Amino acid sequence: MSRLYFTTPIYYVSDPPHLGHAYTTIIGDVFARYHRQRGDDTRYLTGTDEHGQKIERIAAARGRTPKAHADEVAETYRAAWERLNIRYDEFIRTTDPDHEETVVELWRRMEERGDIYLGHYEGWYCVACEQYYTEKELAPGNLCTVHQKPVEKVKEESYFFRLSAYQARLQEFYDRVQRETGRPFIEPMIRMNEVRAFVDAGLEDFSVSRTTFQWGIPVPGRPRHVVYVWIDALTNYYSATRRPRLHGAWDEDVTIVHLMGKEITRFHAVYWPAMLMSAGIRPPSKILAHGWWTVDGEKMSKTRGNVVDPLRLAEDLGTPDAFRYFVLREVPLGADGDFSHQALIQRYNAELANDLGNLVNRTLGMVTKYLGSTVSPAATGELREAAERAVAEYAAEMANYAPSRALDAVWKLVRAGNEYIERSAPWKQDQARQGEVLWNALETCRVLSQLIDPFMPERAAELRRQIGAVAAPEGEREALGWQPGRSYTVAPGKPLFPRIGDDRRQELLARWAPAQPAAAPEPGAAAQRGAAPSAGAAPADKPPVSYEDFAKLDLRVARIVAAERVPKKDRLLKLQVDVGGTPRTVVAGIAAAYAPEQLVGRQVIFLANLKPAKIGGIVSEGMLLAAGDPDVLALSALDRDVPSGTKIK
Ligand code: ME8
Ligand code: MG
Repeated sequence: MSRLYFTTPIYYVSDPPHLGHAYTTIIGDVFARYHRQRGDDTRYLTGTDEHGQKIERIAAARGRTPKAHADEVAETYRAAWERLNIRYDEFIRTTDPDHEETVVELWRRMEERGDIYLGHYEGWYCVACEQYYTEKELAPGNLCTVHQKPVEKVKEESYFFRLSAYQARLQEFYDRVQRETGRPFIEPMIRMNEVRAFVDAGLEDFSVSRTTFQWGIPVPGRPRHVVYVWIDALTNYYSATRRPRLHGAWDEDVTIVHLMGKEITRFHAVYWPAMLMSAGIRPPSKILAHGWWTVDGEKMSKTRGNVVDPLRLAEDLGTPDAFRYFVLREVPLGADGDFSHQALIQRYNAELANDLGNLVNRTLGMVTKYLGSTVSPAATGELREAAERAVAEYAAEMANYAPSRALDAVWKLVRAGNEYIERSAPWKQDQARQGEVLWNALETCRVLSQLIDPFMPERAAELRRQIGAVAAPEGEREALGWQPGRSYTVAPGKPLFPRIGDDRRQELLARWAPAQPAAAPEPGAAAQRGAAPSAGAAPADKPPVSYEDFAKLDLRVARIVAAERVPKKDRLLKLQVDVGGTPRTVVAGIAAAYAPEQLVGRQVIFLANLKPAKIGGIVSEGMLLAAGDPDVLALSALDRDVPSGTKIK
């Protein structure tokens, strides 16, 4: 029995969870579920990163204490993971008192080792990354390359960690992992090579405390300093193992696997092992750095309004499993991926509804039609070899941390099952032969339920229920693969993955289209997903216009006289506005920022001659002007009351 401990990064409480955070956390869940199914002693940790300048500033901008802000956002992470069927053993928050104690303890140990000393820091800081950069690492205009945001000049007294002393030890460590396991410490190899080059070039001591803000763990004995947020954050993986449910997870014989996006590899592969060496604690076993998702070829961002919310997809598809499957199948772990809703629906229909769904439906349909509900074991084992090959390939790929290839192996078996049914044509056979063929098909479905279980636990359970199979009890090793001799009593139910028809597809794509700014897009604009982003462009991005161009807009003062939510469209409000004549109906994407009752009576600036367009099934006759994205949004206003319908020029 192996012992394993998987972790995700702890996510900043700056934003609610999106596609990217869900991706990492699903990967961890898939590995953890797979190893639990194998009977391995498996632990899984996730959590939130709550200290630092970025969070302090966001909370201040919202007029809340950082802790109140963090409490709220941490809760959205827990809720999201629950809905996405993620089973972790612990959820750690860096504001938890037990974590803070461990950070202080580790600091003291590094200080006693002589690795922490007081100095001065002068240089560049990106608050979004919570990271220092040297001048040569910046993009032109002093921008950080990750966020394209300006860095800040920092000059302060600071504690430093003596990273320069760890170059040789880190090099030896990477070599040792390679030698002992036959695989690099960091996968994929390209990330190992980058880190290796960074370490080989010589390491500089780095700043590990800050004095210009408060929101962090005070440096022991020097409370004017707070511990640098990355020192605090990295420690979470270790501090969590002092909790009962993770007890023993940092033992020598445990395979400790840190999962993350590629952008934070250096912290985990260089700083973190060095900190642990300094504190006299074993380093982790492996860093798995996955790629970065874009959405329709663009960086995901609030300003672009293209942030993918996995919960919404799970809700609209009736299960989180399709999304879980899609993100793991679509790109090999380590590669960058481009997310598109079309591709999600495509794979859903082709692979889940058709390939897998049909195999199950046809099998159960024929069992009911030809045999009743019970099927006795057959001895022909015609799919046995295909099943065993799939299991072996699957297990090898899972051990290689290659879940997308593991799924390829599973789908080979799905196809083999469908081909077998075609070839054997039970509809032409006598009942004895029908019994054999359908038993083989049922046994294949059972093996498939085992293999998809880590990826799609909800649908796997439903598959087992329909074919009348059971999984091994919690904590026991499930024997994967073909088992002759069991009889099946089936209980067919609804399709596992109902096919998404054309109308439904259009409807879903429209619902999932990037959020529009305050109101009416051009008719059909919601469906044009690849188009240039409408929001977020800098003012200078648009060419100059003449006054004649401007005068084509009929801008008016409008008073909102009624407001209500649009059923099932959580971003939309339906408004009645008075512009001097008969009230107009307007649909505005402002429901995240305004409750209907806050709006009635307000005056806003209104574009009265926008072509009417159907939004959320309602014809909208104009557009309210507003600033910002759907979630940070302010309606336009006039600074005194004027008659409704007054022109704006
Ligand atoms: O960096 N594609 O937190 P964070 C793929 N608190 N993965 C993505 C992604 C995308 N577009 N966007 C985010 C931090 N991720 C620190 C970590 S750990 C001690 C401290 C995922 O909220 C990916 O796992 O910025 C990435 O590493 C992580 O979210 C960054 O989350
Ligand atoms: Mg980040």
